Amino acid sequence: MSRRTPIESQRVDAPLTQSATFLVLSVADGPDAVRTVRSALSSVDDLSKNVSIRDLDASFACTVGIGSEVWDRLLPGISRPAELHPFPKIEGKVHTAVSTPGDLLFHVRAQRRDLCFEFERQLTDLLGDSVKVVDSTVGFRYFDVRDLLGFVDGTANPVGQAVNDSVLITEADDSNSAGGSYVVIQKYVHDLKRWKSLSTEKQESIIGRTKFDNVELDDQDDDKQKPHKQLANIEDPHTGAELSILRDNMPFGNPGQGEFGTYFIGYSRKLWVIEQMLERMFVGNPPGLHDRILDYSTPLTGTTFFVPSATVLAGLGDD
Ligand code: HEM
Ligand SMILES: *[C@@H]1O[C@H](CO)[C@@H](O)[C@H](O)[C@H]1NC(C)=O
Ligand SMILES: *[C@@H]1O[C@H](CO)[C@@H](O)[C@H](O)[C@H]1NC(C)=O
Repeated sequence: MSRRTPIESQRVDAPLTQSATFLVLSVADGPDAVRTVRSALSSVDDLSKNVSIRDLDASFACTVGIGSEVWDRLLPGISRPAELHPFPKIEGKVHTAVSTPGDLLFHVRAQRRDLCFEFERQLTDLLGDSVKVVDSTVGFRYFDVRDLLGFVDGTANPVGQAVNDSVLITEADDSNSAGGSYVVIQKYVHDLKRWKSLSTEKQESIIGRTKFDNVELDDQDDDKQKPHKQLANIEDPHTGAELSILRDNMPFGNPGQGEFGTYFIGYSRKLWVIEQMLERMFVGNPPGLHDRILDYSTPLTGTTFFVPSATVLAGLGDD
C-alpha cells in the first residue's frame, strides 16, 4: 500500500461567529503580483495562528477561496477543480442573479471584530499593491442568528459529520481537489420598507418558516409559488436524499445610509447543488414562479471560488 501525505482542509467547518469580514480581491497583472500573492496565501495559516493566539476563545478562522479566472495564472501546475467555472449569470423573468468578478475571497470569522480587523490589517500589508479590493463587507450577528428580514437564518445547516460530508470534496469525487470545497457568495440589499409593510403571515409564507419560533411550514403544492426553504431544497437525482450546503449568511448594513443587507455565503462539495438552488430561486420552480424573497432583495454581486485544501495553500510559497 502506498502512503500519502494526509490532506488537511481549511476551516470551512468553523462555527458561526459574532463577526465576519468578506474580502474580495482581484490580483494585479504581472509575475511580481503572482509571486507576492502566492507567498501571502502560503502564510495565511501562520498569520491565522498569530492572530487567533491573541484570544483562543474567539474562534478565529479564515478560509481562502480562489476564482476561476485567476486559477491558471496563480496556480499553474495544480489541476483545475472539476466543476470550477465563473458564476453563471441567471436571468429569470423578473429577477437576475448578476455575475461579478473576484479572484480571491477571504472569509474571516471571529467572535471579536478586533481579531478580524487585525488579520485583515496584517494580510493587506503582506499583499501590498499586488491586489485591488473589489468589495469588503463587514457582517455582524443579529440577535438569535436572525437576518435583517427578521427570520432565524441557518437552521437547516448540516451538523456534526454531515458538515464535512456536505462540503468537503473526496478523493473519489475529484482526486486532485480532495479536501477542498466550492464557495459561492452574493451580496444582497433589502428593501426593508416594503418588506415591513407585509403582514407577518405573508412574510412567513415567503420564507417557509414561522418568524417568532422558527417552525417549518408545510410545503406548497407543485403548481404554486413556493417558499424559499422549499425552492432551496435540492434532492439527489438518483437517491432522493437531501443535498445540503453549509451557509454562514451575515447581516450587514448602515441604517444612516439606508443600507440593509444579507451577505449570502454557501460552501458545497458540489458546485451544481448551489447553482441549482439559484436557478430555482431566480427562474422559479416551475419556471416563472420565482422566490419572492427576491421581490425584496437584490444581489449586487455573485462570484464563485474554490477553497483549496490547507495543504495546497501551504505549498504555494515554495517557489
Ligand atoms: C437574501 C438572501 C437570503 C436570505 C435572507 C435567506 C434566508 C433564509 C432563511 C430565513 C432560511 C430558513 C432557515 C434556515 O434553514 O436557514 C433559509 C433557508 C435556506 N436557504 Fe436561504 N436566504 C437567502 C439566500 C439564499 C441563497 C442565495 C441560497 C442558495 C443559493 C439559499 C439557500 C438556502 C437553503 C439551502 C436553505 C435551507 C432549506 C431547507 O430547509 O432545506 N438561501 N434561507
Ligand atoms: C507569526 O509570528 C511569528 C512570531 O512572531 C513571526 O515570526 C511570523 O513572521 C508571523 N507570521 C506572519 C505570517 O506574520
Ligand atoms: C471535518 O474536517 C475537518 C478538516 O479536515 C476536521 O478537522 C474535522 O475533525 C472533521 N470533522 C468531523 C466531524 O469529522
